[in-house]
Amino acid sequence: MTDWNIENRGKLRGEIEVPGDKSITHRSVILGAVSTGDTMVSKWLFADDVLRTIKAFQQLGVEVEIGDTLRIHGRGKRWLHASAEALDLGNSGTGIRLMSGIVSGMPFESTLTGDETLQKRPMKRVMEPLSLMGARIQAVEGGYPPLKIRGGELKGIDYTLPVASAQVKSAILLASLYAQGKTRIVEPAYSRDHTERMLAYFGAEIFRDGLAIEMECGQNLYSQMIDVPGDISSAAFFIVAGLTVPGSRITVKNVGINPTRSGVIDALKKMGALIDIQNLRSASGEPVADIYVYAQDLKGAEISGDLIPRLIDEIPVLCVAAAMAEGTTVIRNAKELRVKESDRIKSTSEELRKMGAHIEELEDGMVIEGSRNLKGAEVYSHKDHRVAMSLAVASLAAKGRTRINSVEWVETSFPGFLKKLTSLVA
Ligand code: S3P
Repeated sequence: MTDWNIENRGKLRGEIEVPGDKSITHRSVILGAVSTGDTMVSKWLFADDVLRTIKAFQQLGVEVEIGDTLRIHGRGKRWLHASAEALDLGNSGTGIRLMSGIVSGMPFESTLTGDETLQKRPMKRVMEPLSLMGARIQAVEGGYPPLKIRGGELKGIDYTLPVASAQVKSAILLASLYAQGKTRIVEPAYSRDHTERMLAYFGAEIFRDGLAIEMECGQNLYSQMIDVPGDISSAAFFIVAGLTVPGSRITVKNVGINPTRSGVIDALKKMGALIDIQNLRSASGEPVADIYVYAQDLKGAEISGDLIPRLIDEIPVLCVAAAMAEGTTVIRNAKELRVKESDRIKSTSEELRKMGAHIEELEDGMVIEGSRNLKGAEVYSHKDHRVAMSLAVASLAAKGRTRINSVEWVETSFPGFLKKLTSLVA
């Protein structure tokens, strides 16, 4: 177990880049592996979650060269063969749910598993639509990993998602590559659309009409060059640190600002932040920009409704911003937080409370009375990378020293996070 000791040492200054987007890197590996030709992925996220997805495809027979640029030797979607060993997706919900979609198309049995936290995460949400498409899936009672999936002979479905989940939507779209007929998915609200964008980038025809997505099943994909933008979910820690540590002025360059992901910027603007987005450009079908932030007084705001899926992973760090704001912040309609890497409503509230924040838990969110009065304390990551990094941001804005226990989980998404954060201390 690793701990961090962090002390507020004053303002943050400088210009940084954050590692590549996790969602986009996963999809690059997956689509590259099932398309024809060599896919090259630059600025990809070198972190445990992604390495697990790569390893899973290697077990299924795909050749992947790991270097500064990732090179995936795709031989078409039917090339994969059965793996004797289980596919172990580690901590990654995206890995296991998207891979479920792929192996549902395979005419053999695969076992998908993960670490102790992944084994507690709900899989019924993918089992239901994939079974309707024709896959045969067994899980631990209650719908938990390991999953045994026997695929093949799939048909397209017309499916309304019960929750706005990009992982479920993506599992269905990926399985549809192996199915017959047509798939139509209706989302209750916009969730991240990287899979749809990347399927189109790899040559598939896919259509959106409001909250509905349609595609003809059985389409083939062709390899591409992908330049992965910086992950806005990782940038969010620096953006909130830049806003809340007095006297700070920082720039995060080359960040993906896809509108289905950039809710954190909208929420912070609602809280009164002036955030400057410059140099807007496009990379491999995704919008990218540089983000300029300086410390400001924030005020409480309501964060709810359709905004939630657009910032779901940033809520722990938004709670830090709310604790450092003036007035009340109410977060609602975020029940999904209860089934992330930890129950983030509980874990974030419990730990920020130890640092002096006034947070009340709701069934589907929290109410935070801002006090700008955080103090150092001994806190715990709850084995959740984003909780650990949010607490690190809170530590920089707090008085005194903070010790964060069990921070090794940060390796799943952001190796080198603390070094980057402290490199900004002016
Ligand atoms: C992700 C989708 C989201 C998000 C997760 C990554 C993805 O999960 O929380 O970190 O890459 O598709 P849900 O689909 O469960 O909302």
